[in-house]
Amino acid sequence: MKYSDINLNGKTILITGGAGFIGSNLAFHVQDNYPRARVVVFDAFALGHFKNLRGFNGETIAGDIANPLDLARLNDYKFDYIFHEAAISDTTISDQKLVVQVNANAFSDLLKIAKAHGAKVVYASSAGTYGNSPAPNRVGEGETPENIYGFSKLTMDRIAERFAKENNMTIIGLRYFNVYGPREIYKGKTASMILQLGLQILSGKRPRLFKWGEQKRDFVYIEDVIQANIKALSADKSGVYNVGSGEAREYNEIFGNLTKTLEVNVEVEYIDNPWNFFQTHTEADISTTKAELDYAPRFGLEKGIGAYAPQIVKIYESEIK
Ligand SMILES: NC(=O)c1ccc[n+]([C@@H]2O[C@H](COP(=O)([O-])OP(=O)(O)OC[C@H]3O[C@@H](n4cnc5c(N)ncnc54)[C@H](O)[C@@H]3O)[C@@H](O)[C@H]2O)c1
Repeated sequence: MKYSDINLNGKTILITGGAGFIGSNLAFHVQDNYPRARVVVFDAFALGHFKNLRGFNGETIAGDIANPLDLARLNDYKFDYIFHEAAISDTTISDQKLVVQVNANAFSDLLKIAKAHGAKVVYASSAGTYGNSPAPNRVGEGETPENIYGFSKLTMDRIAERFAKENNMTIIGLRYFNVYGPREIYKGKTASMILQLGLQILSGKRPRLFKWGEQKRDFVYIEDVIQANIKALSADKSGVYNVGSGEAREYNEIFGNLTKTLEVNVEVEYIDNPWNFFQTHTEADISTTKAELDYAPRFGLEKGIGAYAPQIVKIYESEIK
């Protein structure tokens, strides 16, 4: 399904992190809807996996975004658009220097390449920029990250704002909330709680939730994240936007939805929460994303879990059972 009138046929598009969850879904969206687009994936194959790209007809470069020699390979092309998804996406990594280098400093280097190519950039920011600030989360308010990951993403937003202004470029940041859907399996323990709970439910284990399952999350289905990325390409001014479903739901509800959809009857086991930065309530205020990017999420939690459930069963049967 096409999300915008933009025509990417004949365009050259870079997707960093294209072997990862969101990047590979973007690669297939472009391939399926714009068959004459040239798509180049750049990835270090950290949490990304070649299996996410089986069926992808474009080019793949293995490289580290934080290595200038690897980045230099991108100058063999002339990019019209760049989707920047490459990052240390694991929010529990505590090596501060590494996370800032890979997520924020490498982004500065990529922006210089984008400038030289005259490319429009859409990059992945995160709801982690809000830390534990009260929901609903609005861009420009409560930007107090609780971990180095959130800090690195907020640093990216600051870098983008300045770079766009100084160089008269269009750079759009998308603060994804909790994304779930096909091609996240290779993220392992950092895959969405929807997949992890679904797999635990199917294996008959008692799924574990932090006491008492009342924390709320804005889970957004991958299709809506793709929509936001494609629509962002038409933006004529730079900015940072929330990308969520706009609705926060308790983990208990998510669990109930999964057991109902997967038709398995198991009880939850509540455990103590070891993370002091665990967010209690995230919820995207998506009013400006709707008004300025024409974003219109199509998947609420029930519809998203319904769309994803057959895939969760398939993953369980092929990877776990
Ligand atoms: N999935 C979510 O819920 C979510 C939420 C907020 C923000 N994000 C952001 O969205 C982007 C995509 O996330 P994802 O869920 O697809 O995660 P992912 O880990 O599947 O994708 C990130 C990709 O970047 C690659 N990568 C890591 N380090 C690299 C490096 N040094 N050089 C080149 N490539 C490197 C990985 O191999 C992986 O393929 C990330 O920037 C992440 O921080 C994701």
